[in-house]
Amino acid sequence: MNVKNNIILAMDLMDLKEAEIVCESINEYIDTIKIGYPLTLAEGLSTIGFFKDNFDYKVICDYKVADIPATNEKIANQTFDAGADAIICHGFVGPDSVDACKISAEEHDKDVFLLTEMSHPGAVKFLQKDADDIAKMGVEMGITNYVAPSTRLDRLSEIRDIVGKESFIISPGVGTQGGDPKETLKYSNALIIGRSIYNAEDPKGATKDIIDSIQ
Ligand code: XMP
Repeated sequence: MNVKNNIILAMDLMDLKEAEIVCESINEYIDTIKIGYPLTLAEGLSTIGFFKDNFDYKVICDYKVADIPATNEKIANQTFDAGADAIICHGFVGPDSVDACKISAEEHDKDVFLLTEMSHPGAVKFLQKDADDIAKMGVEMGITNYVAPSTRLDRLSEIRDIVGKESFIISPGVGTQGGDPKETLKYSNALIIGRSIYNAEDPKGATKDIIDSIQ
């Protein structure tokens, strides 16, 4: 996936009008958006089409899919049928569940991102110890897109080593959660940034500042 300025906007505002205002203000800098449950549950699955039709964005759906294969397949099919370019699925559920998302993505000619380790402090308790194996599983399955944290660069670096330099890693946790944009991009292909942009008094200025800081 090609991401303009290496920044993916994590749009977790829960009002589509407010989201639209932010997107209009930073449109010159952004061509890829990540939406998750907050906006989708508030405004519906049609938000995917809204961002595609009005902004021509690539839309990554952060639905952290983590169910049995049959249910994962249904979730992924619905998401891609609604126009999503990619879906994020959890790896801890195992290869059969991940494969259901991967097959759906292939059938729709879209992408699947495998979530390895999460960015928040609580991820250390359970997920971190299995994250390397999740990444190895992804490599064995032929997955080329991954999510890995900007908040722990040692872990991000380790996951990069496992998935290889040809894989595409996107990293949440920049800004509000403490991750550094420039350092993160030493290991990652694109930053996922939400509150530091959409909660900023001046989203355009905040986005420009981040872009300047990574050049
Ligand atoms: P902020 O506001 O912290 O938003 O910049 C971060 C966005 O990324 C999501 N998030 C994650 N998604 N794996 C994911 O797939 C993670 O480890 C992770 N950590 C944060 C979060 O929901 C928000 O949309």
